[in-house]
Amino acid sequence: MSQQHNGTEPQPPSGFEDVGELVAVLRAHHANKLHLCEELEAIADSLPDRLGPKECLAAARRVVATMHDAHEFEDLVLWPVLRAMRPDDVALEECLQRLYQEHVEDESYADELAAVLTDHAMCVGECNAEAMGYMLRGFFGGVRRHIAFEREHIAPILETSVKAGQ
Ligand SMILES: [Fe+2]
Repeated sequence: MSQQHNGTEPQPPSGFEDVGELVAVLRAHHANKLHLCEELEAIADSLPDRLGPKECLAAARRVVATMHDAHEFEDLVLWPVLRAMRPDDVALEECLQRLYQEHVEDESYADELAAVLTDHAMCVGECNAEAMGYMLRGFFGGVRRHIAFEREHIAPILETSVKAGQ
C-alpha cells in the first residue's frame, strides 16, 4: 500500500522539529525497551526463589506502558514519515507491515506477561516459576530481535535522510 507522491519533501509531523529528532526519539524508545528487557531477564534469572513482589509489580506496570508508548510513536508518527519518504518502496512497505504486526503481537504478549507478573506478586494461582521464566525469555528475546531489525533496516533510512540535510 503506497501513498501518492505529491512532489514535495516529506515534513516531520507536528511536534517534531526535523527527521533528526525522530531518529533521537526512536533511539530513546529502543533504549527504554532494552532496559525493560534487562529488567525482565534479571527477573527470569532470579526465579524461583529470589524474586520479590515489588519487582514483579514494577515490571508489570512498565512492560505494558513501555511497549505501548514505543509502538504508538512508530505506528502513528514514524511509519507515516517513512512512507512519505519512499512511497514506491515495496520492500519498505512489507517491512512496516511486518513490524506493525509484531507490535500488535508484542502488546498482547505484554498484557499477558503483566497479568502473570501481577499474579506471581500476589501469589494468585499456581505461581509456576518455570512457565513464567519461559514466558519472560520468549518475550524479551522477541523484543530484542525486533529492535535489532529496526536498527538495521529502519534507522539507516532516517539517518541517511538527516545526513542529506532533508
Ligand atoms: Fe517497533
